[in-house]
Amino acid sequence: MLQPESIVSRLVSIRDSGDIDKSRHEASVLLEDLAMHPDDRINSYLRVDLEKIINSYSQERASHYASRAIKSIIEVKTGRINDIDMNRWREYDDIITDSLWIIGKRDRSGAHNADYWGNFIPQIPSQMIRRFTRKNEWVLDTFMGSGTTLIECRRNGRNGIGIELSQKVLDLAMNNVNSEGNPDGVVTEGIRGDSTQIGYDGIMNQFGIKKFQLALIHPPYWDIIRFSEDKEDLSNSRSLDEFLMKMKSVGQKTFDVLEDGRMAILVIGDKYENGELIPLGFMTMSRMLECGFRLKSIIVKNYDVTRGKTAMENLWRYRALLGNFYVFKHEYIFVLEKRGRRSYKKAGKE
Ligand SMILES: C[S@@+](CC[C@H](N)C(=O)[O-])C[C@H]1O[C@@H](n2cnc3c(N)ncnc32)[C@H](O)[C@@H]1O
Repeated sequence: MLQPESIVSRLVSIRDSGDIDKSRHEASVLLEDLAMHPDDRINSYLRVDLEKIINSYSQERASHYASRAIKSIIEVKTGRINDIDMNRWREYDDIITDSLWIIGKRDRSGAHNADYWGNFIPQIPSQMIRRFTRKNEWVLDTFMGSGTTLIECRRNGRNGIGIELSQKVLDLAMNNVNSEGNPDGVVTEGIRGDSTQIGYDGIMNQFGIKKFQLALIHPPYWDIIRFSEDKEDLSNSRSLDEFLMKMKSVGQKTFDVLEDGRMAILVIGDKYENGELIPLGFMTMSRMLECGFRLKSIIVKNYDVTRGKTAMENLWRYRALLGNFYVFKHEYIFVLEKRGRRSYKKAGKE
């Protein structure tokens, strides 16, 4: 393995050289040396700069690329709301930045499983936690269900609080969450509560939380799946208006406990009723905007492929052909930002 110190000293020699031919030669030799260690993580971001040096026509350009390569090795430049080292951004090829997510397989490793009907794939909280939080920060999941978010918190060294209405679901989830390793010793706590009415002060005092740095909001998609008999259960809302009003209340409460400049992630799909499409996703998103959130991104994600049993798929296809509609294959991930007072003013809204 090539030691970073030795790579840096060879790059310094290129940077400080007054001879472009010598620089090109040294860069070629270094590139060949790196090719002998294809698994070396340093490789991916260095290779591009070395190729640029080899193709440079002036020593000035070569020095520029050598300086950039040195920086990428010795400096850590993280974003304000994550631990992604922007000097080594090429290494994060598993972080999705496109708005269309076609995810082939659900992550079933460790404590993750698909037993809870209506849980989201772990890749959703995993992506959001790594993109929008730093180590040891606090994540809130307002509809905890089987605890997918809390498992991802443990894996990524973030503290997590999950709110769940059903005691039975909560108990099962916590058994599962606690079976996952916790290498960073973070707090992952499930709390029984109604997210439309909950008061967060007591919880935040108990755990010494000033504000949450990320919120995941994955409600029932109104009555598509009934989660319980409880009238407070959002899946038992008697009308669309009631569902949306309650979601606005969840949005307001979440907004209040989120740090300025941080993200709330709303995961939701649409539904059909009496042959008409109800754009539940966009309607709920618009209630969130009324709470003061700013829309950063709309991600369209394919449904978990394991969900569709062939017989059901055929039935839906038959119904779609007969009823002139299209079978849902997607849901939405809305990325909402709590805009700080300063940026709010800047945008001329206050
Ligand atoms: C779509 S599921 C969330 C699944 C979760 N993301 C997971 O991966 O397991 C919605 C959850 O919200 C719960 N729920 C429904 N109404 C609620 C309310 N008013 N407050 C808190 N939780 C509620 C349901 O019991 C259900 O577990």
